[in-house]
Amino acid sequence: MTTVTIERLGQQGDGIAPGPIFVPLALPGEVVSGILDGTHLTEPRIDTPSADRVSPPCLHFRSCGGCQMQHASDQLVADWKRDIVVMALKSVGLEADIRPTVTSSDRSRRRAVFAARRTKKGAMAGFHARKSDAIIPVPDCILVTPALLAGLKLSEDLALVGTSRKAELAVTVTDSLEGLDVAVTGGKPLDGPLRITLAALCEQYRLARLTWDDELIGMRVPPAQRMGKAQVVPPPGSFLQATEHGQMKLTDLVKEIVGPTKSVADLFAGCGTFALPLAESAEVHAVEGSSEMMHALDVGWRQAQGLKRVTTETRDLFRRPLLPDELSRFDAVVIDPPRAGAAAQIAELAVAQVPVIAHVSCNPQTFARDAETLCNAGYVLDWVQPVDQFRWSAHVELVGAFRLAHIAA
Ligand SMILES: C[S@@+](CC[C@H](N)C(=O)[O-])C[C@H]1O[C@@H](n2cnc3c(N)ncnc32)[C@H](O)[C@@H]1O
Repeated sequence: MTTVTIERLGQQGDGIAPGPIFVPLALPGEVVSGILDGTHLTEPRIDTPSADRVSPPCLHFRSCGGCQMQHASDQLVADWKRDIVVMALKSVGLEADIRPTVTSSDRSRRRAVFAARRTKKGAMAGFHARKSDAIIPVPDCILVTPALLAGLKLSEDLALVGTSRKAELAVTVTDSLEGLDVAVTGGKPLDGPLRITLAALCEQYRLARLTWDDELIGMRVPPAQRMGKAQVVPPPGSFLQATEHGQMKLTDLVKEIVGPTKSVADLFAGCGTFALPLAESAEVHAVEGSSEMMHALDVGWRQAQGLKRVTTETRDLFRRPLLPDELSRFDAVVIDPPRAGAAAQIAELAVAQVPVIAHVSCNPQTFARDAETLCNAGYVLDWVQPVDQFRWSAHVELVGAFRLAHIAA
């Protein structure tokens, strides 16, 4: 037996003792005993629990890999996520006003990918177990919206009819304004009989839309999402902010940064999460790599009332970032890249000197790298707001407010 005292949490939520020794499900300040296996303490037993240790609120937490942090108080998780942002910025020599984390409530995740497969007796669906391919049924999951939970039984039925005994389905279920929007991958190739069976399931479960490996099986009603005053029908399985609360919070923060202005560029715009609300008061040019998402945004804008002009451009911003002479006509830029960040686009922004930049990020490390580039080019990072749409996970999202140093805050 080895006994250690946990000093801090790692990026994945493990407790870390001097060594470093990684201890799953342990919290700072706790004294833990277990069997040392390399740099990991296995079969840990908590000798002295932290005051921030709580009973996991979900029945499935012990086995399910969907959540990592239900053993910690909400305050500890919020502070830990804020600290990850502080440390990432510190690593590039930056300090800023880092606001307290805002967190989406339980039962608010409106999109999930359920794993489903056939079993000897029938089928099972749920999330993968921690560090394992085993599927854990999660009928009492408190992470996703109640509507999404109905997708579990559907996922089992899809596995029964659409997969072999060895394969596993990935069933992406999204809660839309009109019912569940379901996109399945990993199943049998479509043939006539399977198509008919799937269409019947689409009716039986009153799905808004069902797609199978990108092929549309049925759309009873377009699965719209609200984006400001507009409604958009995203392409099957495409990106959507994880909770409605998170989307609204991020949008408010982006609006706070952009302020009253005439012309905004929204880069990595998706289906218009920010472009469409911003178009209530400014003209917006939305740029995004997916032509289907740009089309969805354009249709949503055309059908909405009272918005200013929104133009769309399909463009690979890693290979062909907007150049300084293209950026110079904008008063503000919103940028919301994938986890890899946006090094090429940020380098052009640094030259272009657009007065205000709202940077939304799902990766504090790449955000810090981008922030360093901007601050070296004369920008000030006024504040950062961590936003936690991925409650009980190790995932951190944030919005950063940049302005050129000579422009008053
Ligand atoms: C984090 S999402 C943000 C989307 C949108 N801002 C929103 O909030 O819904 C990142 C977006 O970048 C797009 N994307 C990924 N790689 C890209 C690239 N190389 N060029 C342009 N867009 C890209 C994705 O399709 C996705 O819509």
